[in-house]
Amino acid sequence: MIEIKNLNKAFGEKRILKDINVEIRDGELFSVIGPSGIGKSTFIKCLIRLLRPESGQILVDGVDIGSTSNEFTLAKVRRSFGYLFQEGALFDSLTVLENVAFGLRYLTDVPKSDYPRIVKEKLALVGLKDVEHLKPSELSVGMKKRVSLARSVAAEPKYMLYDEPTTGLDPVTTGMVKDLITDMRAKLKITSVVVTHDLSLALELSSRVAMLYGGEFVEVSEPAKFRQSENKGVREFMEISNLSRTGPDKDCK
Ligand SMILES: Nc1ncnc2c1ncn2[C@@H]1O[C@H](COP(=O)(O)OP(=O)(O)OP(=O)(O)O)[C@@H](O)[C@H]1O
Ligand SMILES: [Mg+2]
Repeated sequence: MIEIKNLNKAFGEKRILKDINVEIRDGELFSVIGPSGIGKSTFIKCLIRLLRPESGQILVDGVDIGSTSNEFTLAKVRRSFGYLFQEGALFDSLTVLENVAFGLRYLTDVPKSDYPRIVKEKLALVGLKDVEHLKPSELSVGMKKRVSLARSVAAEPKYMLYDEPTTGLDPVTTGMVKDLITDMRAKLKITSVVVTHDLSLALELSSRVAMLYGGEFVEVSEPAKFRQSENKGVREFMEISNLSRTGPDKDCK
């Protein structure tokens, strides 16, 4: 479980996260939504201390990484996370095999001789086969996403963080990524945090949706309840996203 207590993050004078309190429960798929520039990526980066908050606790299975400067503790906790970056961020000069094995080398003690077997397994999990020798430039956008995901889960993280997993993708690839996120949760029992400005994606996939607005989570609830929220920020965001209280409009399916 990840417990966030009184989390504050600012850039200079600009307060981005103001006293955030929330728990991310084991096994759940927790989405953070909100308009562009509101602080969603800042939030997710604080969770693994890519950014250091000004104050507050971030308890990952009871270990507080909010303010620790103990590199050993940080490294240990980070090992339980996988991170799917928005751009995929594959290494162009490495093969698919080397890309997927990357995390194994740095995050685990798995012997090198086991890499090909594990990589093959993880590629199968995302629906890829016989691509180990290819370079990223030889892959389609959808395949790159799959390889990035295989790499993120290679070291079998307990938690997965997805930053805008479907932004900029065509509808078919978007559907595929949605299925993959659901699959990772079901097959590997991964607790997931998804950051997105795609409200329909969040409502469809999540156990709970949190709306970040003005530095705070103004609503944190299950999708059905979220749709009924009376919060002004949520209502506005639903309207912008073209969603009604009862379900997605035909046009935006
Ligand atoms: N390293 C940084 N230094 C200074 N300001 C930053 C930094 N990172 C983000 N910001 C600012 O903090 C605010 C929140 O940024 P963040 O990237 O978290 O937003 P976001 O909700 O993820 O937006 P988007 O939907 O566009 O990805 C923005 O105003 C951004 O300019
Ligand atoms: Mg962002």
